[in-house]
Amino acid sequence: MANPFSGLKVKWSNSAPISVEDYRALARKRLPYMVWAYIDGAADDLATLRGNRLAFGRWAFLPRFLTGKEGTGLATGIGGRRISLPVYLSPTGMCGLTHWSGEIAMAQAAERAGSLCVVSGAASYLPEEIHEATRERHFFQLYPWSNALAGRHDLTDHYIQRVQDAGYQGLFVTVDVPTHGNREAERRRSLGTPPVFTPGQLLEAALHPRWLMGYLRHQRVAPRLMTHRGGLKGIAEAGEFQLRAMRPELNWDDIKRMRDRWNGPFYIKGLLHPDDAEKAIEIGATGIVVSNHGGRQLDGSEAALDAMVKIADRVNGRAEILLDGGIRRGADVVKALCLGATAVGIGRPTLYGLGAAGSAGVEHILEIFRQEIARTLTLLGVTDVSELNRSMLTRVEPYPFGDSNEV
Ligand SMILES: Cc1cc2nc3c(=O)[nH]c(=O)nc-3n(C[C@H](O)[C@H](O)[C@H](O)COP(=O)(O)O)c2cc1C
Repeated sequence: MANPFSGLKVKWSNSAPISVEDYRALARKRLPYMVWAYIDGAADDLATLRGNRLAFGRWAFLPRFLTGKEGTGLATGIGGRRISLPVYLSPTGMCGLTHWSGEIAMAQAAERAGSLCVVSGAASYLPEEIHEATRERHFFQLYPWSNALAGRHDLTDHYIQRVQDAGYQGLFVTVDVPTHGNREAERRRSLGTPPVFTPGQLLEAALHPRWLMGYLRHQRVAPRLMTHRGGLKGIAEAGEFQLRAMRPELNWDDIKRMRDRWNGPFYIKGLLHPDDAEKAIEIGATGIVVSNHGGRQLDGSEAALDAMVKIADRVNGRAEILLDGGIRRGADVVKALCLGATAVGIGRPTLYGLGAAGSAGVEHILEIFRQEIARTLTLLGVTDVSELNRSMLTRVEPYPFGDSNEV
């Protein structure tokens, strides 16, 4: 996939994006702050957001040279589904807020890049619309909504059946949202619960005409499974729905019930404790998605990579281990695989691509990862991701990163 910015006839500078961080800077410019705070923000003091990145710096490669090997084997499998690189799209809600084409653009880009999209249960498009717009069977993510939600005792069962009927292959159930994380940038900049929109925010949106046109024309921002309203009123209505549906009393029996109802690969997303990984295996999960929601929920929780190492040790091959949180480079992906992950998910990086250049931007993000992973494998002296193991890394004092992932 070509860089969507490289076709420009006149170049004032060589500023076409070539890294995730470049896309981040571009998306920041192209999106109103209201949207930026939603996609790039995190909970409380952003400690876990930063911790996710820093954890990668505590591992260093031990490359072998003159192995005669070139890094060409990037393919792996998730739930029996072959993907051409060990990176999938983590679910991110309300992609339509970042770009009107939302999850359809995401899933189509994943497909063009030979990857897999996990569509969020808070998607701006209906599961059926996304499935119809794509060729492959992607995965779907659901929150375990309260069964006691007024008037709909079977809400979660209803969604599981609907997603299954729509043709999705795998299900992720996200368990780390018993209540909303405290994302202060979001609350200050208008997407809190309930959302409050000020004239200043609307004026700021107007200063981003490309984004505003997409928004006005398509009105595809709110989570479609939670509201039929388009636009910002839909976001408010969906926020109310979530407040009623999200219940801290949910427990493992609820998740087991979901597992039993889903016919296909089943993953529990948001675990950080090895004992919870054990429970996930007990109820028959195909895999565990080690994640702290990109630092958006419990601030101060362990860095996802650190938690993953302990969970991989405990699980010891009994279930697939997926990881997301802080992955910004191909080298991060390779480290995660060395430490026991089957594949990794990326959340914000695809939103940066989407905000900067729509579906082409998302595809280019995946292409950047593909090139960086291949280069890392070659520099490490490895041909295929299946050869990666812990002996290729050593634990070190943290290396500082050159980027600054802050709102
Ligand atoms: C804007 C945004 C929306 C998200 N929405 C969801 C969601 O609907 N469901 C879910 O399970 N996780 C959601 N996540 C969390 C991601 O799936 C993933 O765990 C996280 O983004 C990984 O960290 P990273 O952004 O550093 O890659 C969201 C993350 C972001 C940034």
